[in-house]
Amino acid sequence: MKDSIKVFAPATVANVVCGFDVLGFAVNEPGDEVIMRVTNKPGITLSKITGDNGRLPLDPAKNTVSVSVQHYLKSIDRTDIGLDIELHKKMPIGSGLGSSSASTVAGLFAAKTLLGDETDVAKLLPFAIKGEEMACGHGHADNVAPALMGGFVLIRSYEPLDVIRLPHPKGLYCAIVFPDVDVPTREARQIIRDKIYMKDAVTQWGNIAGLVSGLFMNDIDLIGRSMKDILVEPVRSMLIPDFYKMREMAMEMGAVSFGISGSGPSVFAFTKSEEEAKQIAQKLQKHLAGAGIGSNIYVSDINDQGPRVIG
Ligand code: HSE
Repeated sequence: MKDSIKVFAPATVANVVCGFDVLGFAVNEPGDEVIMRVTNKPGITLSKITGDNGRLPLDPAKNTVSVSVQHYLKSIDRTDIGLDIELHKKMPIGSGLGSSSASTVAGLFAAKTLLGDETDVAKLLPFAIKGEEMACGHGHADNVAPALMGGFVLIRSYEPLDVIRLPHPKGLYCAIVFPDVDVPTREARQIIRDKIYMKDAVTQWGNIAGLVSGLFMNDIDLIGRSMKDILVEPVRSMLIPDFYKMREMAMEMGAVSFGISGSGPSVFAFTKSEEEAKQIAQKLQKHLAGAGIGSNIYVSDINDQGPRVIG
């Protein structure tokens, strides 16, 4: 058995505009890294966290990575083992890009790989959901599931958990812009309505079904016209600087679709080429800079691999 491992787990775009809490996909960058070492004292320690500006707890009872790994070890009856975790945040916290999920998934995948556990990676999902519960008060799976399984994922049901990997057209690119404003998921969930009108539900589930059909049919235009959200976006867009202006600019430049990534403030556009994605990301970054708002941009296709061992 190896006694140390380094794992990368990817950022994710949750909701995919119309599928609040039920759709998400993984991207190639950014992502987080975990270095895990076997120690000779049973229990989990967290020796180091970098890239978080001191925002994350080093106490293993309070950190989402160690807590999820602890749940996993218990489930396989391996609490006899000692593991030390180093977490290297390579992506912004509170970005709407599944930052806590990337860390948790990296930790779980590192533990599973170190222990030589051959079970399907999807079996780690309940432990990753526990991490989400701790990070933002709600155990949604639309970041952790794609971070863990890679690709495009549908959470058909939470109770019981039923998660389905969806196909997607090749050559679909994603431009992500993360404006430098903090929107904690916990707060972004508190501002949305908990009751909706039937006619709005009809519009929304038509769009979700349209998006899923488009993924199966390789129909990028159907994907684009289905990515509309009348339930959550009208409220959350208020937390994002120049959201509607950015949408107009992206769509004018030929984007397939544009919307909020997860709970924001990141926004993303699907495009039909890497070049288009780059141009849109750069243009939106320039626009925000003009308004005095810094941003990070990322361009990626859909990451079908999920977590991977990098050392
Ligand atoms: N579905 C979750 C939400 C994702 O929108 O609150 C959070 O990244």
